[in-house]
Amino acid sequence: KIYPKTLFIGQIIQYLPSCQSTNDEAATLIAQSTPNEGLVVITDHQTAGRGQRGNQWEAKPSENLTFSLILSPSFLMATDQFWLNMAISLGIYDTLQPLIGHSLRIKWPNDVYVDDQKLGGILIENTLHGYNIAWSVVGIGLNVNQTEFGYATATSLQCQAPIPNAYDLPGLLSRLCETLEQRYLQLRSGQRNTLKTNYLQILYRYQEEHSFESEGHYFRGTICGIDSTGRLAISVDGKVRYFGFKEISFLFD
Ligand code: BTN
Repeated sequence: KIYPKTLFIGQIIQYLPSCQSTNDEAATLIAQSTPNEGLVVITDHQTAGRGQRGNQWEAKPSENLTFSLILSPSFLMATDQFWLNMAISLGIYDTLQPLIGHSLRIKWPNDVYVDDQKLGGILIENTLHGYNIAWSVVGIGLNVNQTEFGYATATSLQCQAPIPNAYDLPGLLSRLCETLEQRYLQLRSGQRNTLKTNYLQILYRYQEEHSFESEGHYFRGTICGIDSTGRLAISVDGKVRYFGFKEISFLFD
């Protein structure tokens, strides 16, 4: 068994051979007890994985990383939850970038992309205490050793950076715990400018013209930033417009 070199993230790992959703398992732990911050629930086979916007998350059993991390960012207001999305996205980037290189990107809000293909996704679900976050379940799905997909827009680590055998999943999880903790500690110690600057540096299609759709309208625009609540700022015909999570889709050119 490998232990990550961390203070708390991944010091306790709860392994389930199979489950519906590790996010649901983590939420149950929070509802029934006071789990240790940093606890990771991981499974080989997720039967009802959930994604953002009500999407499903599918992955071949035992070939990929499917896990949820329990955090307690009580220092964050509910309106500041996007800062956690940025820290988590960067933590994943920091582990994968040395393996994949500079074509790795984070597609707003937090999809892991290589060029125009998706390698992974993040689903963060919070419970609140007053105006602040009490608990966050950080669900992460990364395609690692799987090389055949039902969608042309999906990819994996093995597709992007092939190695003779398979990637070692526990070793990769351990490394992820380390880089996720570094970024989480940056957030907790108030280094928000660093996180935002680093996030924009790796943002998919940042400062490039692209086609978008919002509420049935199609337009071209250029991503020019993120506001303090995490909305995407897009410059359209010289005017900056802001979009929330469910208000905008990227179109392929
Ligand atoms: C997305 O791309 O929309 C987010 C996908 C998140 C998938 C992970 S896999 C582990 C955790 N459990 C879930 O049910 N979903 C997340």
